[in-house]
Amino acid sequence: MSLPSDPAAPAAPAAPAVSGPADRLSAPAHQHAAVALDFVAMTPQALPLVAEVEKTAYSHPWTLRHFQDSLQAGYLMQMLVAQPEAAEARQPPWAGSPTLPDGRHLLGYVLAMQGVEEVHLLNITTVPAHQRRGWARLMMDALAHWARAQRAQWLWLEVRTSNQPARGLYASLGYRSMGLRKGYYPNGNLPREDALVMALDLRPAERPRPPHALS
Ligand SMILES: CC(C)(COP(=O)(O)OP(=O)(O)OC[C@H]1O[C@@H](n2cnc3c(N)ncnc32)[C@H](O)[C@@H]1OP(=O)(O)O)[C@@H](O)C(=O)NCCC(=O)NCCS
Repeated sequence: MSLPSDPAAPAAPAAPAVSGPADRLSAPAHQHAAVALDFVAMTPQALPLVAEVEKTAYSHPWTLRHFQDSLQAGYLMQMLVAQPEAAEARQPPWAGSPTLPDGRHLLGYVLAMQGVEEVHLLNITTVPAHQRRGWARLMMDALAHWARAQRAQWLWLEVRTSNQPARGLYASLGYRSMGLRKGYYPNGNLPREDALVMALDLRPAERPRPPHALS
């Protein structure tokens, strides 16, 4: 992840290249068995809950202020929420997991910044109780879909070199390592940690030309 005020991050987002649902991710096409899924925008009221989840997911979490600044900056900030059936809601992992005021469970969230022909992932987090169930993959797929709809050609991100779960996630989705940012992340009393820069090429694959194609 990147901090919203990070000077190394790309320039301020440009206006979307196309009109359309530029401010939200599409609800997943499939519905998980017995669970209704949706993406909803983070509102100022939701930020304290998100910041509490953030503390449980990271050794160096974003603060409430980081989320407020991101909202102010107009970044894409979407929460993946779920409404399990009543019988399911009493079972793990749902029982006791974070919920919004409307009763829906927060599964995770994704923040991204739009640049010129590129999108930069700022934060992706799955609520710990819901991890390893495919929610991050679903959020990343929805983000790539949205980025393509904005005519972005690249999706960029940074990840701590030690963050094997996240690196595994990105590699499984086809992100390639593009370089290192030395000492990018704070690391408590230890030396700062490097960031691995990864990117997904969103450009449509070139089709091989037929042997006798007209030029
Ligand atoms: C990284 C993170 C977002 C993954 O969320 P998730 O919902 O559990 O991930 P998914 O269930 O969608 O997993 C998709 C793939 O990611 C990889 N992965 C996810 N968790 C992993 C783990 N603990 N160990 C190894 N690989 C892992 C696997 O390739 C997995 O596919 P598989 O389950 O078919 O093997 C989650 O662990 C998290 O929120 N971590 C803390 C915040 C963080 O580090 N965010 C990324 C900042 S760059």
